[in-house]
Amino acid sequence: MLGVCYYPEHWPEDWWADDARRMREVGIDFVRIGEFAWSRYEPQRGQFDWGWLDRAMDVLAAAGLRIVLGTPTCTPPKWLVDEFPEILPVDEQGRTRGFGSRRHYTFSSEVYWQESRRIVEILARRYGQHPGLVGWQTDNEYGCHDSILSWGPVDLAAFRNWLRRRYQSTDQLNEAWGNAFWSMDLQSFDEVSLPNLAVTETNPAARLDFWRFQSSQVAAYDRMQCDIIREHSPGRWITHNFMGFFNEFDHWPFRDHLDLASWDSYPIGFVERFPFSEAERNRWAETSHPDIAGFHHDLYRGVGGGRFWVMEQQPGPVNWAPWNPVPRPGMVRLWTWEALAHGAEVVSYFRWRQAVSAQEQMHAGLNLPGQKELSQGGREAAQTGAELKAIALPKPGPSPVAIVYDYEAAWVTLIQPQGRDFRYFELVFRWYEAVRRLGLDVDFVAPGDDVTGYALVLAPSLPHVSDLTAQALAEAKGLVLYGPRSGSKTWHFGIPANLPPGPLADLLDMRITQVSSLRPGLSDKVGGKVSGAAIRWREFVEGGRAVLARFENGDPALIASDGHHYLACWPDEKLLASTIALLARRAGLKTVKLPPHVRLQRRGDLVVALNYGPTAWTPPALGKRILGRGRVEPCDVGIWRVSGA
Ligand code: GAL
Repeated sequence: MLGVCYYPEHWPEDWWADDARRMREVGIDFVRIGEFAWSRYEPQRGQFDWGWLDRAMDVLAAAGLRIVLGTPTCTPPKWLVDEFPEILPVDEQGRTRGFGSRRHYTFSSEVYWQESRRIVEILARRYGQHPGLVGWQTDNEYGCHDSILSWGPVDLAAFRNWLRRRYQSTDQLNEAWGNAFWSMDLQSFDEVSLPNLAVTETNPAARLDFWRFQSSQVAAYDRMQCDIIREHSPGRWITHNFMGFFNEFDHWPFRDHLDLASWDSYPIGFVERFPFSEAERNRWAETSHPDIAGFHHDLYRGVGGGRFWVMEQQPGPVNWAPWNPVPRPGMVRLWTWEALAHGAEVVSYFRWRQAVSAQEQMHAGLNLPGQKELSQGGREAAQTGAELKAIALPKPGPSPVAIVYDYEAAWVTLIQPQGRDFRYFELVFRWYEAVRRLGLDVDFVAPGDDVTGYALVLAPSLPHVSDLTAQALAEAKGLVLYGPRSGSKTWHFGIPANLPPGPLADLLDMRITQVSSLRPGLSDKVGGKVSGAAIRWREFVEGGRAVLARFENGDPALIASDGHHYLACWPDEKLLASTIALLARRAGLKTVKLPPHVRLQRRGDLVVALNYGPTAWTPPALGKRILGRGRVEPCDVGIWRVSGA
């Protein structure tokens, strides 16, 4: 269940066999290679040097390693960029982004699609049936380094075509976008410009469509690679390695064409990426926040249709965050067990050995820089490998709570925030944290997914609700809680004719007449069956069959209409915790109040306790202990088998 990312092209060939043998000693079964190696096997157009990769694959396979091969399209080589400079992406300020790192292509470039088809086919034909090959990774981290939205001439041309197909006539486009405003009417699709570099804010409907267009290209590009691989590499699975806290394209469509999802878990690096307070950042600096990894494991288990890997697991300090501390001893092992507890099929560390040159030389590996000697992270991987031999992991089961995750919600609230700190992913993360603090497991679902199996369904914010989504939510058998701005936008980024919550109005029996964003430091008290305060955002509700809590002036804050509930604000920690606790109780769920640094996760009949520190945790009776004894110490893991399950 362990893997590692390996770059044979970085090390002398006479090290490979020894590296492979030592990987096996650590307990590693899988090795991912090749995702950045294009310039090494095609140094010039049509001139191939396969010898080294042939030998590397054979050496790894001979050691009993199962190989995951990456397609190399994340890093088009220099000769290709020189031949076709139009593949380069353009930033929002109109500057072309150059060669010299990675992800230097735009998804709108037809030339790059052709070049990608060519190289993927050559690679799939050559290695698709290699006996050591078990699976493929397409490209590498779509969107990394801000590379989804590109603003160049080829993007404009492709966007115009996309609009032509969708709207047929400019009359329909003008109507949908509300172009009567500020004299923005267009007479032909050739008049469409990209929604950047205008004097002030561009039309939010145009921005949303531009985002949808770019997002749909990413999924189509990935599917193109998958179709080629499937043709030439029967019996092998395909994944893509997605990222943490990343919303720039809709990940749900990938569920239809990938066999499993994978993601790259850098729990400490991500502490800097999330808008935590400085106090929280300091607190979690060397362990990470206890929900960062779990949140993404659950999200990507959903994106993978129930199957996921961690393709890259942080093994020590990374190099790319503003600060890069060494993880506390025990954390690499804890993160590994945590991923497995959440259902990961494999946890693969990035990378086998720390590099000694180029951009990532300060990034830890399982081995010291340029050495054949395990690092702290390497020793913890080996410990986990040894422990895994004694514990068979059952299949993960369904969770009692579902969170509806909507990538478009992230775009809509970013395009028109209305309050600077209204950040969709932050809201969802805080709701997730509140659920996890009660010891409950979570599944993430796409808008429109069947939610009838869940006791509690949470939609922290769902600005546009399609008919399909409204229908799926109406059919929920458990309780549903919607958060602020749900149902507040039409498909074309307008205000619904019946006012928010638009298509949810019948279910909730209410409407919203005003919304107010609250500056940092301002709040509005809430009391009733739950209590705390609204911060950042507060709405003015009319209706609702029952009012469970009110703002200080008596206005409804939490309403219930049969099983459907609406929370009309961005809740502070106290209000959020009490609201989730109330709903969980009413949904009949058994909760445990965990300390802020401890989490529980079930996998089949196993319960795994993860202690992010700083103090030990004495567990209640959880079953028969199969890993660890007594208290769960800081940075340690405990595992129980639940009797009778
Ligand atoms: C990932 C990427 C890897 C490596 C790693 C460093 O985002 O996929 O290639 O750069 O980060 O942490």
